[in-house]
Amino acid sequence: MPPNLSAHSNQSAKPIPREAPIHHHGIIGQSEAILRVLAMMRKVSASDSTVLINGETGTGKGLAARAIHLESQRRESAFVAINCGAIPENLLESELFGHVRGAFTGATTNKVGKFEQAHGGTIFLDEIGDMSADLQVKILRVLEEGEFEPVGGNRTVTVDVRIIAATHRDLEKRVSEGLFREDLFYRLYVIPLVLPPLRARQADVGLLAQHFLGEFNARVGGRIAGITDEALAVLGGYAWPGNIRELRNLIERLVVLKDDGFIDVDDLPVKLKSAEGIPTVPAGIAISDDGINLNSAVTEFEKALILQSLEKTKWVKNKAAKLLKLNRTTLVEKIKRYQLDSRDKLADCASSNP
Ligand SMILES: Nc1ncnc2c1ncn2[C@@H]1O[C@H](COP(=O)(O)OP(=O)(O)O)[C@@H](O)[C@H]1O
Ligand SMILES: [Mg+2]
Repeated sequence: MPPNLSAHSNQSAKPIPREAPIHHHGIIGQSEAILRVLAMMRKVSASDSTVLINGETGTGKGLAARAIHLESQRRESAFVAINCGAIPENLLESELFGHVRGAFTGATTNKVGKFEQAHGGTIFLDEIGDMSADLQVKILRVLEEGEFEPVGGNRTVTVDVRIIAATHRDLEKRVSEGLFREDLFYRLYVIPLVLPPLRARQADVGLLAQHFLGEFNARVGGRIAGITDEALAVLGGYAWPGNIRELRNLIERLVVLKDDGFIDVDDLPVKLKSAEGIPTVPAGIAISDDGINLNSAVTEFEKALILQSLEKTKWVKNKAAKLLKLNRTTLVEKIKRYQLDSRDKLADCASSNP
């Protein structure tokens, strides 16, 4: 019998939605940030210009490159992707441009490179920021003249290929550091497309989580009923350094580990719950079974911060007040009320009599 989604006991839980969310060749999202990217991509797809995609790891650069190709006039031809950062430098050239038989030890046959495979279509040069200076020159030549020579060959190959490049690095900075050719940078930088990090797409976190849940849940025969609102709130408050890839991997793991029911806050890894952006209780303060006196706990916290600011400023009260965004008089009053001054004197005695 299929699970009865409407009869769950957790009132705040949401069953997995049946309708697909906004979908563009696998790109899901409804945040302002992603809608702006999608609008930009539509324009980019209509042109045949070189595109440079920038964004943190896991923000969907690969997905965006493919979507641009699939919307372009080259859609019937090949989309060839290569990760320039993952292939050893000595192999990358022959991967990109091919080689002739006997070009190097092990080259027993002619090999067609990615550029030739992509003829008429699009090549996606992922992590181009990691490419060696030597290869940067060769890429520049393909961009400007559409030609290259396979490794070990003297035949010049001409191709008609659209280039989409991506990097998680700040290419402009790499240019200023002398690590990336300025001419190639400007040649690639015709249309820059920036993919925002997931933490800047709050509105998409729940949508993506539900989408991935649907995907992985189907693989295990639909054991999981959904995600609770409380768990979704925790997901929404996390900073996602690994972006959408990290979210996807987490949902996959949760589906594998959980037997049935709704994914709740207890199922989530601790690091999500103590993440930046979510107010957390300072270390050393915990509510015991007997409860806690909120007023005195807050006072203790206030004292600790005042002492910290005083120590940081070597007890220069003007500076300490500034750190705390307080008036000096307010700080002095508090120091008096909490008798923090006496500790000051004690500490002074201790340090002058080691
Ligand atoms: N907007 C999105 N909607 C759905 N899935 C996405 C989206 N963006 C990225 N993904 C998924 O997240 C993972 C990482 O995407 P990828 O394109 O490889 O990121 P990057 O190349 O920036 O590291 C992939 O599994 C991809 O399918
Ligand atoms: Mg990638």
